[in-house]
Amino acid sequence: MALKNINPITTKAWSKLEEHFMNIKDVQMKQWFNEDEQRANRFTIKWDDFYVDYSKNRITQETIDLFLELAEEVDLQNAISKYFSGDKINKTENREVLHTALRAKETDKIFVDGKNIIPEIHQVKQKIKKFTKQIVDGKQKGFTGKPFTDIVNIGIGGSDLGPAMVVDALQYYKNHLTTHFVSNVDGDHVNEILKKLNPETTLFVIVSKTFTTQETLSNANTIKEWFLKSASKQDIAKHFVAVSTNIEDIKAFGIEEANIFTMWNWVGGRFSLWSAVGLSISLSVGYDNFKTLLAGAHKMDAHFKNEDFNTNIPVILAFISIWYNNFFKVESEAVIPYSQYLNQFATYLQQAIMESNGKSVDRNGETINYQTGTIIWGEPGTNSQHAFFQLIHQGTKLIPTDFIGFAKCLHNNKKHQDKLMSNFFAQTQALLNGKTKEEVISELNSFEATEENNKIIPFKVFEGNKPTNTIFIEKLTPESLGKLIAMYEHKIFVQGIIWNIFSYDQFGVELGKQLAGKILDEFNNTSNESHDSSTTSLLEYYKNLT
Ligand code: F6P
Repeated sequence: MALKNINPITTKAWSKLEEHFMNIKDVQMKQWFNEDEQRANRFTIKWDDFYVDYSKNRITQETIDLFLELAEEVDLQNAISKYFSGDKINKTENREVLHTALRAKETDKIFVDGKNIIPEIHQVKQKIKKFTKQIVDGKQKGFTGKPFTDIVNIGIGGSDLGPAMVVDALQYYKNHLTTHFVSNVDGDHVNEILKKLNPETTLFVIVSKTFTTQETLSNANTIKEWFLKSASKQDIAKHFVAVSTNIEDIKAFGIEEANIFTMWNWVGGRFSLWSAVGLSISLSVGYDNFKTLLAGAHKMDAHFKNEDFNTNIPVILAFISIWYNNFFKVESEAVIPYSQYLNQFATYLQQAIMESNGKSVDRNGETINYQTGTIIWGEPGTNSQHAFFQLIHQGTKLIPTDFIGFAKCLHNNKKHQDKLMSNFFAQTQALLNGKTKEEVISELNSFEATEENNKIIPFKVFEGNKPTNTIFIEKLTPESLGKLIAMYEHKIFVQGIIWNIFSYDQFGVELGKQLAGKILDEFNNTSNESHDSSTTSLLEYYKNLT
């Protein structure tokens, strides 16, 4: 059964939210903290090893209550049931959205077209497990009999960003294998990576759901040519494996059936790291850690599915994000992990969030007259403090920010950890409280009350009242990372449901691909298209230079 089709802004709750917004939009959060000792408690969700404090937001209990009413009116609960049970909620592609099935228990039953998909998921997992062990233990060797030392993941978008982010995030747990990622069709990317590799000891994992993606096929072919300079065609079987739904084209590329890891159309690319797309994760950190990552995501799935909405982490985070996006009319959100391991987390989330909810047509096919997907960006703290935090603190834009931190560090370097975490806590405090003129004056007067000092006062004032969520986790482990990723996946889902859009297609990436194809034909003299004058001049300039 299809998702319901309800324009959120026509709901009663939306009108009430608009009215409520007018009443509280200028209130200082500080005031609410002063009035209510229980505020932090009231707006904190403690679940497993997660401590999610959303009290530093421009919300009151009424805000949450009205969003709960909105969730009721758009029938969020019903949508969640459809999501997990495999209804074709990706209607525009006529597909189920079942990345959650990839981390379901072996005893669960989830049906697609009348067939329980859990056994085949488990079969692929067993294949990943066996293959990982063979490679990591050095039992499966390269064409000259040497064990593998390097893994190269060849893929782009969801076939790159998820595995690359997780491999980087879990590097503390990794084994002796070095993992590389080639994604860009920019030949300099693949050539720089090839420089570091020995064909005798490198395993190539080609990841492409469709196996038609230009970037991935170009890189795979370039790598194959490079490999064949040292090896023979039969050796391809030892060094190339593929993850895809497109078995025919993989075989045509020269990969043996035994080296194919299947995935399914009901897994969206940007949610596919839990499938065989995560093969490079398993190879890098071992199958047990990969399994634990999935188990963590499954725990978050259960929380999301079963928890009451007012203590449901992804639901509350989605409400808050919509509150700023649609009522405060903010343009973007930042995600700042206080862990260098999550260096690639914001980049990963950019695809997950912006490819999913960057839509302007509703589930009725009508153009939308309200805001949908937010722009997402971020970098690890403390580096970002020394880069763009100035704008968050004193700029003219309101930028709701998620602060993600881990109580325990992995290398047991307590001195650094205390410094890192003092920044983590201080920043949300500073964003909340700001610094008043009076505070600035009292600070300056403790130096000297000169005319010069007085002139500087306005520049030193911090308005404060800047919203943040604190997502505080005990320790970065495969399990907690799985939970964190799944938390954002479900936040995306809730937002898509409320905005009445289809979150699981990505037609917006097609047009550029089509036009690039035509321009490439032109470079190869197989077509002669007419363009706008700007493009024509640019193409001329390029042709003259190359
Ligand atoms: O960028 C569009 C897209 O379709 C993504 O959704 C997907 O993750 C990526 O291309 C790669 O696709 P494939 O895995 O089929 O190569």
